[in-house]
Amino acid sequence: MKKIMSMLLVLSMLLMGAAMAESETLTMATNAAFPPYEYYDDETGEVTGIDVEIAQAICDKLGYELEVVDADFDSLVPGVQSGKYDFSMAGMTVTEDRLQSVNFSDTYATGVQVVIVPEDSAITSIDDLMTEGADYSVGVQQGTTGDICATEDIEDAGFGTVERFKTGTDAVLALTTGKLDCVIIDNEPAKNFVAANEGLKILDTEYVVEEYAACFAKENTELLDAFNGALAELTEDGTVPAIIEKYLVANAEEAAAE
Ligand code: ARG
Repeated sequence: MKKIMSMLLVLSMLLMGAAMAESETLTMATNAAFPPYEYYDDETGEVTGIDVEIAQAICDKLGYELEVVDADFDSLVPGVQSGKYDFSMAGMTVTEDRLQSVNFSDTYATGVQVVIVPEDSAITSIDDLMTEGADYSVGVQQGTTGDICATEDIEDAGFGTVERFKTGTDAVLALTTGKLDCVIIDNEPAKNFVAANEGLKILDTEYVVEEYAACFAKENTELLDAFNGALAELTEDGTVPAIIEKYLVANAEEAAAE
């Protein structure tokens, strides 16, 4: 009996040791059609971008493995809330509405909603979309702040219709094939999409300015605090600014090369 007990003890210690040696994995959900924040790298076929690199640096610091899951944008907040994912980073704007369901980390970047139009468009400013008699068809990514703002300011106000797409890429595709008058989306992906497609431009007026942050389940404050601590250190030591700078410079160069 004693022998069995001590064997069991040794076995359980071995198992614990194995579990401790293998570091825990954090699952980050994103929607990988939002360059330069998250997109598929052509060469590696992996999801990469600002959010993935920042998340990786934070996980390295905290001793976690990082797993990135690509999902529909409007499933990210519910997935984090239910505990399906440990957190989400997706160029996600902090909004009052989302704060009802999840907690946000400290912010790490700013986004601006802009308008993409065909080069010869009659639309010259954001105000053109919201004036008496306007009746434009506006494309957005479903569930994004672009969708929420356009629905409120344009569709509900009776100035036009909002077409909702699964990704920003799909919305831009519909714009290039003449199915829409414009697309409202965040500025950095907008630059990327305009560089990748002929005949489009970004209007010189800003619509809404927003803050990006990672979101966590309400009850998971321990992870949120650890994340914020690591984010602050990695901002302080220049790691996070360098990651953002690297991608934004490349994005600007791509846009200029067009
Ligand atoms: N900033 C906008 C929002 O939070 C759009 C984010 C879209 N992100 C993405 N990975 N598709 O609603």
